Amino acid sequence: MAARGAFNSRLGFILAAAGSAVGLGNIWKFPFEVGNGGGAAFVVVYLAFCFILCYPVLVTEIAIGRKTQRNPVGAFKALGFRNWSIIGYLGLASGVLILSFYNVVAGWSFGYVIEMIQGNFGIGQEFGSFITDAVKVGLYGIIFMATTAFIVSNGIAGGIERAAKILMPSLIVIIIGLLMYALTLPNAMEGVKFYLVPDFSKLTGDVIYSALGQAFFSLSLGMGALITYGSYVSREQNIVSAGAFITLADVGIAFLAGFMMFPFVFSQGIEPAGGAGLIFITLPGVFETLGPNIGVVVGVLFFLLLTFAALTSTVSLLEVPTSYVVDEHGVDRKKAVWVIATIIFLIGIPSMLSNGTVAWLSSFITLPGHDNAISFMDFVEDLAADSFLPVGGFLIAVFAAWVWRKENLNEELAAGDPAIRGTLLQKYIDFAISYICPLMLGLIAVVTILDRFFGIELIKMVFG
Ligand code: PHE
Repeated sequence: MAARGAFNSRLGFILAAAGSAVGLGNIWKFPFEVGNGGGAAFVVVYLAFCFILCYPVLVTEIAIGRKTQRNPVGAFKALGFRNWSIIGYLGLASGVLILSFYNVVAGWSFGYVIEMIQGNFGIGQEFGSFITDAVKVGLYGIIFMATTAFIVSNGIAGGIERAAKILMPSLIVIIIGLLMYALTLPNAMEGVKFYLVPDFSKLTGDVIYSALGQAFFSLSLGMGALITYGSYVSREQNIVSAGAFITLADVGIAFLAGFMMFPFVFSQGIEPAGGAGLIFITLPGVFETLGPNIGVVVGVLFFLLLTFAALTSTVSLLEVPTSYVVDEHGVDRKKAVWVIATIIFLIGIPSMLSNGTVAWLSSFITLPGHDNAISFMDFVEDLAADSFLPVGGFLIAVFAAWVWRKENLNEELAAGDPAIRGTLLQKYIDFAISYICPLMLGLIAVVTILDRFFGIELIKMVFG
């Protein structure tokens, strides 16, 4: 068998995995969920979920990958459980579908970098026509997918690791620079207050449920992205602590993103309503008020930040089907990458056109129990990101605890970290992966599928 490639260093692996985790979810979605969900109260709940629920799944995925040195489909076969490779196929489907629409939004971010360079602050007002401009959005989508494919085609150490080593430090420098600047603006403290003053009355069942889903998506769990990255890690490495760093990096960057965003918004006395659209619609106007020079610099940096964050995530999404085709079908990596990227781009075209360009795609389907039609893109997101991932996570936890068995998981965790044997942390991971994770992820999966596809709002029914 040809060499599959491997990460060169521990830091490289951590940066690549953190890069997968840190994405549009952190910078686009997290700050608004915090703002709407009770500020610091939400942050506390989110943080707890990341470590209590998600961290055990994260290390389990890495352990399965490292043990087998295989892609998500091959991994379950290599452990001797052919039937369970269904988890891998579900992961492949999730990866392909998520990348198909994620690339669209990533393309918008990149397009905004170009608009900002030209000083076109009016783009926020024209957001609606920007995203319906098939030529522009198509071009940016192609550029983004091609960049992703280029990185992945260069392999693990030479492509993914090298890109992460450049993009992640740049991202951290940009976010801290923007944050420090934002804090000097008038009314910055109002923004910080809005962001951080805890309001536990806003922590409703719905908010807690969305914190759970957000934490899971944000850590790239449930589709084998971390099985895949784990398969390129050597057995000398301590994956227990690496997993903790990855989780911390993801939460930390999401937290900083909000810290930077709200001072910008409040400096203009704007109420942070309007959800995620705020980034593409409101922020360009805010940057304009900083003056033509600073405005361009801040605007370009901001959307570059979003672009870099998205890029390390699209790379991990593309690596999942790539590793499958390379491992299981012996296809040359370069060939595999370009063919798969092209197919996924094509699958993404209906999503790209479903934001107002083509009417029937924009109101694609009215699901049972709902009053309004949703777009093709929202439909794919409901299916792959919101439903498949928790189902995948549930199955991974059940598999690891009850089929592969805890002893084997513990054995793998101890390789590279012998000191973990018998510790409280190890006992906790065992307990979580056996009971907490299957229960919670199973619950999220059921609640989400009933809500999205049948209009049955279990959370509201239970919590009022
Ligand atoms: N975690 C990424 C984000 O927050 C998205 C992602 C999900 C990437 C699943 C890979 C796998 O944007």
